[in-house]
Amino acid sequence: MRNILVTGGAGFIGSNFVKYMLDSYPEYRIINVDLLTYAGNLENLKELSGNPNYIFIKADIRNRDMMDDVFATYNIEAVVNMAAESHVDRSIVEPEIFLTTNIIGTQVLLDVAKKYWKLNPDDKYCRDYKAGVKFLQVSTDEVYGALGERGLFVETMPLMPNSPYSASKAAADLIVRAYNETFGLPMNITRCSNNYGPYQFPEKLIPLMINNCLNDKELPIYGDGMQVRDWLHVADHCSAIDMVLHKGVDGEVYNIGGNNEKANIEIVKLIINALGKSESLIKYVKDRPGHDRRYAIDNRKITSQLGWEPIYTFEAGMQETIDWYLANLGWVENVVSGDYVKYYGEMYGE
Ligand code: NAD
Ligand code: TYD
Repeated sequence: MRNILVTGGAGFIGSNFVKYMLDSYPEYRIINVDLLTYAGNLENLKELSGNPNYIFIKADIRNRDMMDDVFATYNIEAVVNMAAESHVDRSIVEPEIFLTTNIIGTQVLLDVAKKYWKLNPDDKYCRDYKAGVKFLQVSTDEVYGALGERGLFVETMPLMPNSPYSASKAAADLIVRAYNETFGLPMNITRCSNNYGPYQFPEKLIPLMINNCLNDKELPIYGDGMQVRDWLHVADHCSAIDMVLHKGVDGEVYNIGGNNEKANIEIVKLIINALGKSESLIKYVKDRPGHDRRYAIDNRKITSQLGWEPIYTFEAGMQETIDWYLANLGWVENVVSGDYVKYYGEMYGE
């Protein structure tokens, strides 16, 4: 049995990842620590109830005592840190929680991992760790900042984050790197492009547009809609994290992306067509402050060095995703009630 702590496992990517790991490795035990913020939802994991290899703990990664308790109780051997505040628009309105969760939360986990994994925790010069341990920080391509019309993000680029969200993720990456340099803590960092797929909270572009289309609501496009993102199906992100967890070389950063650049307006039109709606729903609204123009990933390191390949084409992945939202209207209704109504009103002026 190998005990893996996944933080943020009740969120979009986390819930997909927890299920992916339990399916792929029946011998592993997954300990999911999640605070269940507005973005965390146990409904995403309901098919795991009764699974003896799955443990859920409601806790805050910033809470050192609780994290210590998790390590002491479950003999954690690897951490996949996904817990985060993840939405750029919210980070513009309320930066502080992004800094405490994404930076301090990561540092607390690093400290606790170091304490439990170091062979001699009291010796500040000790760089020897238990065999097989690893801290995997799930980061984002947004730490690199924005690209112009040409070029791709490569792992060696300087970090130039533009939003409070991406700045907090960049800070966390640097702290993870520092724990590797200073203390020798085994780690990898993954930087993935924009994900889409089942269980994504409808504040992000694709599920928001699907949900609004289904309700014949306006489709708010920021600025001219020509911003470009490099989209990857969440299942392909999960397989890439799995590969880095098992094969990643200590201390290395791996970009993850599927060479799939699309302008926002293209995506919105695809969704409109797939759902048989009218383009008259499109509403161009005021641009997001500091809006990054283009993201695009150079994935040659992970593909050539670790042998990872994405499986989904964008067309197949989008059709499957739209079908999932159509088949799970109850899930959407639950998550867009309550706080979401307030958020949507403040964000989009309704
Ligand atoms: P999400 O917002 O859907 O989920 C985040 C989860 O973290 C939620 O379940 C939430 O309850 C939990 N959480 C928040 N604060 C916490 C805390 N203090 N303690 C414990 N749990 C806490 O996010 P996501 O889209 O699934 O992203 C997961 C990770 O992947 C994030 O680190 C994000 O930066 C990164 N990432 C996301 C994308 C993307 O396109 N969504 C792309 C690249 C990287
Ligand atoms: P988002 O899903 O928030 O991801 P990120 O900002 O992390 O890339 O947004 C994806 C793109 O879609 C981004 O360029 C902003 C744009 N967007 C809109 O045009 N309208 C919207 O209502 C939202 C949520 C996003």
